[in-house]
Amino acid sequence: MYTGNDELDLESRFVTTEYLPEDDGDNPLRPKRLSEYIGQEKNKENLSIYINAALQRHDVLDHVLLYGPPGLGKTTLAGIIAAEMGVNFRVTSGPALARPGDLAAILTSLEPGDVLFIDEIHRLPRTVEEILYPAMEDFTIDIMNGSGPGAQSIHLPLDKFTLIGATTRAGQLSAPLRDRFGVVLRLELYTNEELARIVTRSAHILGMEIEPDGALEIASRSRGTPRIANRFLRRVRDFAQVMNNGRIDKAAADLALARMEVDELGLDMVDRRLLEGMIKHYRGGPVGLETIAAAIGEEAVTIEDVYEPYLMQIGFLSRTPRGRMVLPAAYEHLGLTPPTPAGKAPAQQSLFTNEGE
Ligand code: ADE
Repeated sequence: MYTGNDELDLESRFVTTEYLPEDDGDNPLRPKRLSEYIGQEKNKENLSIYINAALQRHDVLDHVLLYGPPGLGKTTLAGIIAAEMGVNFRVTSGPALARPGDLAAILTSLEPGDVLFIDEIHRLPRTVEEILYPAMEDFTIDIMNGSGPGAQSIHLPLDKFTLIGATTRAGQLSAPLRDRFGVVLRLELYTNEELARIVTRSAHILGMEIEPDGALEIASRSRGTPRIANRFLRRVRDFAQVMNNGRIDKAAADLALARMEVDELGLDMVDRRLLEGMIKHYRGGPVGLETIAAAIGEEAVTIEDVYEPYLMQIGFLSRTPRGRMVLPAAYEHLGLTPPTPAGKAPAQQSLFTNEGE
């Protein structure tokens, strides 16, 4: 069980999908138009149709909900939608909108057709969420003027706008909010080939030469996540520069990622501790999420949002009604022997073997 020791310093977890300053604002690696955006093919095709149809009608795009694990490009896609529609892109987040007045101020300042992006929309306070319902549905807003017995409700029309909400947990949205989005898109983890194309594109933007096997090596360790791939690329560049004559090839990627303790599947120390902890202390499960969280000193939501999607995608972990289970592929990867099914003696080490008789 995790006892609070140092090595599990989550602050330094390299494969974090949390925002870092380098991910923000005018990150040059972010594609600006749909044609530059790699991956999410089905979503892109559908979005392109919705955007073109809205443009042809000279209407605003319907409200869009983007959901999926962190680091897959929800903010990027929202920015692209605004660019394709030719409108302003206004960004805020659920936790930043503490009071109804915060949202009212933004809504009343939007220009016709603008895209308002609310990240982590599942964290919007209920009182703020209620302002959104009429705003999304009828483009109106009710504001209280004054307070106490003399307070008056003022009904204000708004310019038409597009709300784009992003969340890692669509299940946590209230039904009235979810139902007001006309377009709901689920972002999927990227394939290694898509990530390799993203890494190659990013390398060129950063003015680096990269060999195809170097790009694929970075891609295959990036857990299906462009944000991680681009972060690895920057670190591999450092190693390549100092130790490999600036060449970003498979050897440089291997070296850099091994130094960062990221294994060939992209698992880091925390993933390994998570799986090993479940195996050692809970016989591989089923074990409840909260129990695992307490054991490794991490929040349950973070395990759910950040670690589990990839571990499930590669067939290392499953969610069952009785809890999480480590799957045989994970044992094999960690060099451990999976438990034999209950009631069956292990093949080679049975106490009752009659070998030698
Ligand atoms: N950089 C980060 N995500 C990207 C994507 N999906 N396509 C192109 N470049 C990216």
